[in-house]
Amino acid sequence: MGLLRLRGASAAAGVVLVVGLILHAALLCNGGITSTFVRKAEKTVDMPLDSDVFRVPPGYNAPQQVHITQGDHEGKGVIISWVTQDEPGSSAVLYWSENSKHKYLAKGEVVTYKFYNYTSGYIHHCTIKNLKFDTKYYYEIGIGKTVRQFWFRTPPKVGPDVPYTFGLIGDLGQSFDSNRTLTHYESNPRRGQTVLFVGDLSYADNYPFHDNVRWDTWGRFVERSAAYQPWIWTAGNHELDFAPEIGETVPFKPYIHRYHVPYRASQSTAPFWYSIKRASAYIIVLASYSAYGKYTPQYKWLEQELPKVNRSETPWLIVLMHSPWYNSYNYHYMEGETMRVMYEPWFVKYKVDVVFAGHVHAYERSERVSNIAYNIVNGKCIPAKDQSAPVYITIGDGGNLEGLATNMTEPQPKYSAYREASFGHAIFDIKNRTHAYYSWHRNQDGYAVEADSMWFFNRFWNPEDETKAAS
Ligand SMILES: [Fe+2]
Repeated sequence: MGLLRLRGASAAAGVVLVVGLILHAALLCNGGITSTFVRKAEKTVDMPLDSDVFRVPPGYNAPQQVHITQGDHEGKGVIISWVTQDEPGSSAVLYWSENSKHKYLAKGEVVTYKFYNYTSGYIHHCTIKNLKFDTKYYYEIGIGKTVRQFWFRTPPKVGPDVPYTFGLIGDLGQSFDSNRTLTHYESNPRRGQTVLFVGDLSYADNYPFHDNVRWDTWGRFVERSAAYQPWIWTAGNHELDFAPEIGETVPFKPYIHRYHVPYRASQSTAPFWYSIKRASAYIIVLASYSAYGKYTPQYKWLEQELPKVNRSETPWLIVLMHSPWYNSYNYHYMEGETMRVMYEPWFVKYKVDVVFAGHVHAYERSERVSNIAYNIVNGKCIPAKDQSAPVYITIGDGGNLEGLATNMTEPQPKYSAYREASFGHAIFDIKNRTHAYYSWHRNQDGYAVEADSMWFFNRFWNPEDETKAAS
């Protein structure tokens, strides 16, 4: 009898234990999707210096490393940049709109810099302004020596229902995988019109003495896209090039000489944080590697910037930064945390639609969550669903030589909606003031596969919960 009772008790305890374990598993494992796609493990290596994508254009002093970015706040200006190697040559740009006989000449400037034992070529920057919206322009550079011609299309006039398609690329580098990412972006039928680049460009700093020749090769590699459509730049940690061991103590020296941005047009005081309007989007670029604490220039700027965003004019509010705030990979753990603590309440208050970051070399999309309720004593320090919060997307999967981030925290946290350790790029395709279609395109199948996607319902114009709107 006693034995039976004991057996009964232990069986009951066993049932409780099993039920407990199931409940425990259910509680812990209710995160989103961890992709079952497993990328073939192979080393990521840089393309050799004699690769065709790094070829120097023929001709004496021919302009190379040509790239453009937005040159004002509204989208009527373009900054055109390039490098000449043999002599300074002309910094002027000759440009004209399609179907126009009148050609314009804009004067630019030329800069150089030294980095340890490297001396740069002649880096030219020329801003052309007051362009017509939604117009194809041709431009010529290298005037007087070897002339090269390119073209771009200006965005439509800023307005709430203007469709526009942004590409997202991050942590690109110059490996064979980087080349695949760029090719997939270029051939994507969704046709990105402007690249939002979330930082870490060339990875030159991974070479001995931060070999700046790799800044030049990177410039030539991306020219095939960046000379024809604007790339909107964000500074990452690989732009710091801070190397006191070789006497290089000015942070961002190569980056700020090579990549100009229109920061003054948004009353910013440094090129690392700024904003632009483009079509129906308002894009705020933040600096993970510049001071962002209270009273700092970036803090004061952002505090004044967010209330300026008129969602009736630009319904889509996009933020770019390098170090992610929500990241469930075992890489760069907590690196974005202090900035999150400073700025997340503002992102919720102003209903930022989406935050794109890089840094972690993989892909991840979050639920709409916030983690702003904690006040030291209340214990509320877990991300909670919040329809006013942005979606956080990590797109640091361009394919640089450091390889993929494959190690994830387990179980997948609730806030993580989808994650996958593959290289790729994304497209944010704005349809009108209420709808945007977002898709992430994995590289590893020979062509870009849409591996993750989401409809965005603008919460300013469509305050209904996204989940309800989707059903
Ligand atoms: Fe990074």
